[in-house]
Amino acid sequence: MKKKVLAALLAGCMAMSLVACGGGDSSSDSSSAAEANTDDGADAEGTVETVSPGKLTVATSPDFAPYEFYAIDEDGNPTLSGFDMDLAQYIADYMGLELEVITVDFDGVLSELQTKSVDLGMAGLSPDPARESIMDFSDIYYTGGQSLVTVKDNADKYNSFESINTPDVTVGAQTGSIQLDLANENSPEADIISLPKVTDIISELLAGTMDAAYIETAVAESYQKNYPDLEIVMEVPYDQEGSSIGVVKDNPELLAAVNEAIAAAIDDGSLEQYIADATELAAGQTYEGLLDESGNVQQ
Ligand code: ARG
Repeated sequence: MKKKVLAALLAGCMAMSLVACGGGDSSSDSSSAAEANTDDGADAEGTVETVSPGKLTVATSPDFAPYEFYAIDEDGNPTLSGFDMDLAQYIADYMGLELEVITVDFDGVLSELQTKSVDLGMAGLSPDPARESIMDFSDIYYTGGQSLVTVKDNADKYNSFESINTPDVTVGAQTGSIQLDLANENSPEADIISLPKVTDIISELLAGTMDAAYIETAVAESYQKNYPDLEIVMEVPYDQEGSSIGVVKDNPELLAAVNEAIAAAIDDGSLEQYIADATELAAGQTYEGLLDESGNVQQ
């Protein structure tokens, strides 16, 4: 029953607009642009240009707890949450801008940046050198790690690169992600399937229609709390470890302001708090991670 209500809300939310619904405390409360942060200099001279004046437009892909996901509030409303979203609000406030979040699949985050339709992509994004032509990268603000994930029943079977590197094993990774590169590099013989959402990958693993998947460790651990059938079988080496913010190209003032804000959020303990809060929220009863293509909760 509750799931039905939620499904309807989510469908409505997505149908109306791509702009994030709900938002709660992670949405725009930074109305007094001119007054914000006058002591820090990031906005003092008003030199930072954004795609929509007065706003900081951020693309994200909310299938990636605890970075970004929908938490369900007391009224049953899905609310865009996660430490990326809190950090986005912090950066917007720091720059004296109003935050606007656009939700798309992860490959959409990359193309929004490439087409310069948004200012930032905040999606647990890896500073992959292959992306340097379409975006700039902020300083690293979080370090996760990569994992190979399966379900408990298969944990003895799929526990090495060799064991999954065969055509009769289906191996998943998110479309456009570095995890897909890791799958291609480490298990080239496998039947590699790319799906637009990490939550789709998780539901395929749980349904037994996918054997193993490459997922960021922090994200796998988060979903594992809600779906204990998942098993992280091994760590996967990756040489560009860490998450950064994708910044629209050719806007060095914006890049500098974002790096300044990240440093401030680390220094004053905000980021640490956001990570703790998001980790807790993602593991709570109110969280539902499995959404289908239309944003409906899967049964
Ligand atoms: N860190 C990986 C990458 O940059 C995956 C990011 C996926 N993010 C998301 N919100 N689904 O390719």
